[in-house]
Amino acid sequence: MGYRVVVAGATGNVGREMLNILAERQFPVDEIVALASRRSLGTEVSFGDKTLKTKDLEGFDFTGWDIALFAIGSDATKKYAPIAAKSGCVVIDNSSLYRYDADVPLVVPEVNPEAVDGYTKKNIIANPNCSTAQMVVALKPLHDRAKIKRVVVSTYQSVSGSGKDAIDELWNQTKGMYVPGQEVEPKVYPKQIAFNVIPHIDVFLDDGSTKEEWKMVAETKKIIDKSIKLTATCVRVPVFVGHSEAINIEFEEFLDEDEARDILREAPGIMVIDKREDGGYITPIECVGDYATYISRIRQDSTIENGLNIWCVSDNLRKGAALNAVQIAETLGNRCLKKG
Ligand SMILES: NC(=O)c1ccc[n+]([C@@H]2O[C@H](COP(=O)([O-])OP(=O)(O)OC[C@H]3O[C@@H](n4cnc5c(N)ncnc54)[C@H](OP(=O)(O)O)[C@@H]3O)[C@@H](O)[C@H]2O)c1
Repeated sequence: MGYRVVVAGATGNVGREMLNILAERQFPVDEIVALASRRSLGTEVSFGDKTLKTKDLEGFDFTGWDIALFAIGSDATKKYAPIAAKSGCVVIDNSSLYRYDADVPLVVPEVNPEAVDGYTKKNIIANPNCSTAQMVVALKPLHDRAKIKRVVVSTYQSVSGSGKDAIDELWNQTKGMYVPGQEVEPKVYPKQIAFNVIPHIDVFLDDGSTKEEWKMVAETKKIIDKSIKLTATCVRVPVFVGHSEAINIEFEEFLDEDEARDILREAPGIMVIDKREDGGYITPIECVGDYATYISRIRQDSTIENGLNIWCVSDNLRKGAALNAVQIAETLGNRCLKKG
């Protein structure tokens, strides 16, 4: 006995990864349907060794479907998630629409799996922002040991975090640099992304920070502990897949770098690669297609009383989106929607 599963946004970066990961992890599926906009009607997508033909989300009847994994952006989610939820189908949503709703759990299964139980209020569970997901996996076990007071994080975020058009923009702009007359003007991004970095993700807020930076603050508080102070600078870099983060952490108690390394080695979802030699750390290109959040460069920050620096890298389409969503579905199945 398995589940009847809907994947909405199946033609997108995250949707395709959700189908891959459901198949890889042998999620118990009785029936699966791939949905996208009318533009993609009939487009073929892979699910393990099967091929699914994409159907139109508009007008889809969610009655009798158990779980819907959504990766369609906030505007479409606003329209379709309430329809699915009202039909009795539990929505696991990748957009930011419901993340800060007190009646919707925001879940990273390695960190707060018990929060899944709160899905009943709206029949919706939210997936965090990609940059938050990998960071909280690293912060939680350290917080449990030495209580985090403050975090200063700088991100180096890949273009796949902005959808498939952004991947094309980096690819075409990079190629265009070498061919006179074929230069590609920025469309997805406000400035050239090829051979450049852009310190601006999502819209600007009144205090001069960006919405992406605000999301990291609000989501860390909701998922781990509202007492944690966090300040972020989020930067887009010309990398296709894989987000990196330089994280500085100040604790209430002293935490030795060797003990931190041991704690992280034991923590769920984490791989520590930390040799103090050339290449003894992880770069984004090495994390692509993996489940783990990689931690390197673990070292004391001696400029503050109880400080630590770490380097954190993960596949943003996986832990940052599709993997986390499937892990939420697994947690939901184990804790709440038992079958068989
Ligand atoms: N990429 C990441 O690292 C990441 C991480 C966390 C969360 N997310 C979130 O996940 C969502 C999807 O991101 P993505 O990177 O996969 O974007 P994407 O590659 O641009 O794909 C978007 C998908 O949504 C579908 N869609 C868009 N508007 C629709 C509509 N009105 N009705 C039905 N389907 C519609 C598209 O279908 P068509 O192909 O038919 O247009 C496509 O399947 C976004 O909310 C994003 O913020 C992404």
